[in-house]
Amino acid sequence: MKIIMLGAPGAGKGTQAKMIADRYGVPHVSTGDIFRANIKNETALGMEAKQYMDKGLLVPDELTVKILLDRVAQEDCRNGYVLDGFPRTIPQAEVLDEALAAQGERIDYAIDVDVPDENIVRRMGGRRACLSCGATYHIEHVPPKKEGVCDVCGQPLVLRDDDKPETVQNRLNVYHEQTQPLIDFYRKKGVLKTVDGTQDMNDVFAAITAVLDA
Ligand code: AP5
Ligand code: MG
Ligand code: ZN
Repeated sequence: MKIIMLGAPGAGKGTQAKMIADRYGVPHVSTGDIFRANIKNETALGMEAKQYMDKGLLVPDELTVKILLDRVAQEDCRNGYVLDGFPRTIPQAEVLDEALAAQGERIDYAIDVDVPDENIVRRMGGRRACLSCGATYHIEHVPPKKEGVCDVCGQPLVLRDDDKPETVQNRLNVYHEQTQPLIDFYRKKGVLKTVDGTQDMNDVFAAITAVLDA
């Protein structure tokens, strides 16, 4: 099962992708998490990606595509995966399609988690992230058991550098310009499924499993 999560920054792609990964036993592959892990470890890739991420801009396609293709070529991705944050541009989607087609494969579902911009800005300020394992919390909606500490791995939680209000607005603008066209791209391929992302996260997940189990 090969799934792509579409949706604006803060729509809940990561939250839902983790739940899908747990339930269906496929890896959760997030390009944003891969970049943040590299920034934390101060790798050359991380330093390059950070320059774009902190401004709310996309990391260039060449760099991103290579990282993603390397990741999905790993053994644990053989039976499928849930991609979160990739593709984000039409060229990225085309490269992924070609790589899959070369192996006689294709994306099974592109799930668009639909949330209007007004809701997004409110969510981001309350988000707290674990840079070690990628878990995400919200100070009101999804609080950790112990304040400021990751339930999964015990590391400290942080406000992401790109969750400042000015940067969130830039990310939304970039989303509308460069990523939203993917909704039509996958609709034309007949794999698009749209779910209402403004509901409670468990209701969003129920809508997704209804699609995947159909
Ligand atoms: P990335 O890490 O992918 O960030 P993003 O798309 O901006 O999305 P977010 O992770 O911010 O949001 P999300 O949809 O995962 O929401 P979440 O589940 O956390 O990318 C970051 C940057 O990396 C990009 O800006 C770019 O620079 C670069 N990058 C990454 N991939 C790239 C690519 N392919 N090409 C080029 N550049 C790339 O939820 C948000 C909050 O809401 C959380 O606090 C959560 O707890 C809460 N929440 C979730 N669901 C609900 C709900 N139903 N109700 C209430 N609260 C909820
Ligand atoms: Mg995310
Ligand atoms: Zn953690």
